[in-house]
Amino acid sequence: MGGTNPFIEPLQTAGPTQRYRVTFQPLDATVDVDPEALPYGRDGQPGSLLDIALAHDIDIDHVCGGVCACSTCHVIVRAGIESCNESTDDEEDQLDNAPGLEPGSRLACQCIPNGTVDVVVEIPNWNRNQVSETPH
Ligand code: FES
Repeated sequence: MGGTNPFIEPLQTAGPTQRYRVTFQPLDATVDVDPEALPYGRDGQPGSLLDIALAHDIDIDHVCGGVCACSTCHVIVRAGIESCNESTDDEEDQLDNAPGLEPGSRLACQCIPNGTVDVVVEIPNWNRNQVSETPH
């Protein structure tokens, strides 16, 4: 589900202008981000950590479809947070509902690195989609 949230202010954030890398932990999965290819998909802000993760088959829960209306996409930016857009009041309001908050906590659907440095992101274990299909 992708879309927009009419109840929040649109983000005024420029995306990256150069290639950079995002490493998702604990998967130890590093992906190259090509500014020319953004947005990769429909969920989350264009160029957001959620957009990047989903495009590279890295699952992060995103119940609201990436429109800043839940907190299921909570991630922790372990490196490169200085290259990310500032969180908005709307994002902070949603983050208040997330468990395990840390200084680098962000909503993956709203956090957009500018590409000046590589970024390391931890996906909390409660946000990893580890559902597996088993025969019934
Ligand atoms: S997916 Fe709901 S706030 Fe990010």
